Formats: sequence, structure tokens, C-alpha cells
Amino acid sequence: MALNIVRPALLAAARSPKLEGLVGKSRVTKKLVDRFVPGSSETAVVDAARALLESGRSVSIDYLGEDTTDEATATVTVDAYLSLIRAYTGLTVARPHSLEVSIKLSALGQSLPGDGNAVALQNAHKICSAADAAGVWVTVDAEDHTTTDRTLAVVRELRKDFPSVGTVLQAYLKRTEADCREFAGPGSRIRLCKGAYQEPATVAFQSKDDVDASYLRCLTVLMEGDGYPMVASHDPQMIAAATSLGADRAAPFEFQMLYGIRDGEQVRLATEGHRVRVYTPYGDQWYGYFMRRLAERPANLTFFLRSLVSR
Ligand code: FDA
Repeated sequence: MALNIVRPALLAAARSPKLEGLVGKSRVTKKLVDRFVPGSSETAVVDAARALLESGRSVSIDYLGEDTTDEATATVTVDAYLSLIRAYTGLTVARPHSLEVSIKLSALGQSLPGDGNAVALQNAHKICSAADAAGVWVTVDAEDHTTTDRTLAVVRELRKDFPSVGTVLQAYLKRTEADCREFAGPGSRIRLCKGAYQEPATVAFQSKDDVDASYLRCLTVLMEGDGYPMVASHDPQMIAAATSLGADRAAPFEFQMLYGIRDGEQVRLATEGHRVRVYTPYGDQWYGYFMRRLAERPANLTFFLRSLVSR
């Protein structure tokens, strides 16, 4: 199945509440979702984190949810993170900062009308404050390109009080090489990914070759800089490039992959002595996350469609 035909359709579907109802009700979906999301409860995700830590990997947990439209839901998200950070104290870690949380500003109120940015900043500040006290890192996820400027503005504010706050930059955006230069300084933590949203050609590279070339340029900027690069990709080409650039670097960096994807490769890298962190989502709001994973991998989609018709 041609990825360039189905990908835009799946990414549009990821934002459709109607389809969310339909897909969410399908019994077969659960089996596939379980592959990418270890559970809906905090207990389930903490258990998954414990197993990952025991295998020599680090974790970053994401409480699923995005595009929050009311302040009460944003508060529920903040409370979930505060509770998770408390639950982290029950885990044994081999290395400082093995525990991280990943937050989406749209889940913290960024898209609320009026003062959405201020609400998101205030909510993110609460999470960063609790995380800082517990020795837990925080990284701010990247969403669609219309939010990039506002997200980076919030990150700059947060870094004034919590210098270790990291953020995600998406190599498919044409602006990202310049953003990497801004964020390649000492103390800066950047998670470099390719990008998972449907973006127009005015702002984003469209072909896989162009996105890959941009990723390699951005990776070089980060690896030659003084920050802490976080190489978020399952792509063997990007992993090989990071391994080679990282070998010339005095300071550490880490690999990052998503829960349930290339588990064997994660273990291999960790066994070879690399730092590997697994982005691990949990909660009931899995639909958008799940659809973006389907869009990335036609093999997953074929399996999903086959299971729907053979119900
Ligand atoms: P890509 O999808 O281009 O695949 C390239 C190659 O990798 C494949 O040909 C195959 O060889 C291998 N591969 C990929 N998936 C595989 C699989 N399931 N099994 C086996 N091989 C596989 N996006 C975003 O917009 N905002 C964000 O905040 C984040 N955050 C984030 C955090 C982390 C830790 C990761 C790893 C990723 C993200 N992403 C993201 C998602 C990211 O933008 C991107 O969509 C996916 O990682 C897919 O791109 P890849 O670089 O993995 O390779």
C-alpha cells in the first residue's frame, strides 16, 4: 500500500472525532493499541516503566491527550502528571534522570481561546516544579506547525526557572535547522524527530529523502553543539549516523524510540552501552497517538484493516 496515499488520509482521520468513536468501539483495535500503549492506568504504565528500567533502558512517560478544549480537562492532565511523578519514587534507577515525563502543551490548555498560552505555561510550570524537586526530567512534545512558535516561547520561559527542560524539534519543518542552532547550546536538551503531522509544502519537506536529509543536517548541528541531543528515530540510517557522530563527541547523547517499536533494536543499543529512552504513553485518549503510528507504518495498517474485516 503506497504510504504517500494513505498517510495523509490517516493523519486527517487522526483529527476526526467521528472516526475516533468508530475506531474506539472496534474490539479488534484494542489488540493493536496494546502494542503501542501499555495500559490506561498509572499502575500499568509504572509496571511497564519498571520492566524497561530493569532491561537497562530509561523512560519518558506521556499521559495521552491533546487539543484540550476546557480548563478542567487541562487540570486533570496536570494532576495525572503530579501523581505519576510521585509514583516514580517507587522505581529504582541505575542512572540520574532515567525518569522523564513528556508533556503536550495542547493538553495543558494551549489551544484554549484567549489566554491559552498563559494557561499552558502555568500548568507546565506546576509539572516542571514537581519534576525538578523529584529529579525527573521534562520534555515538551512538538505538535503541528501552527503551534511551534508558541511552544518554543513557552519552553524559553520554562527554561528560565528549570534549565533542564527539553523540547522536541521536527526535522520535516524547514525552520528546524535554524531552531537546532538556537537550541544547541550548553544545558539544552533537544529531542530530534522527523515529525508526525500532516504539514503543507510551504513549511515542511514532503518527500522522505528531503526529510531524511534535513534530519541528518539537524543531527549534525546538535551533535556538534554543547547540548544533550536526544535522537528520536527508529530509522537504521539515522541510528547509524548518530552512532558515528556520537563517537566523535566528548559529551553524552541518547537514543529514543517509541514503546512497542523495534524493541530488539532498543535492547541491542542499550546492551552496547548506549543510553536508550523509551517514550511510553498511557491513558484512555490513545486515538490520535495510535492513528499517527498507523500512518507511519503500512504494515501496521494492513494488519489493522485485515482484523477489522475478519471480525
Ligand atoms: P520512519 O518512519 O521514516 O521509518 C524509517 C525506517 O525506520 C523504516 O524504513 C524502517 O526501516 C524503520 N522503522 C520505522 N518504524 C519501524 C517499525 N515499527 N518496525 C520496524 N522498523 C521500523 N513526532 C512529532 O511530530 N512530535 C513529537 O513530539 C514526537 N515525539 C517523538 C518522540 C520519540 C521518542 C519518537 C521516537 C518519535 C516521536 N515522534 C514525534 C514521531 C516521529 O516524528 C516520527 O513520526 C516517527 O518516529 C517515525 O519516524 P522514524 O524516524 O522512526 O522513521
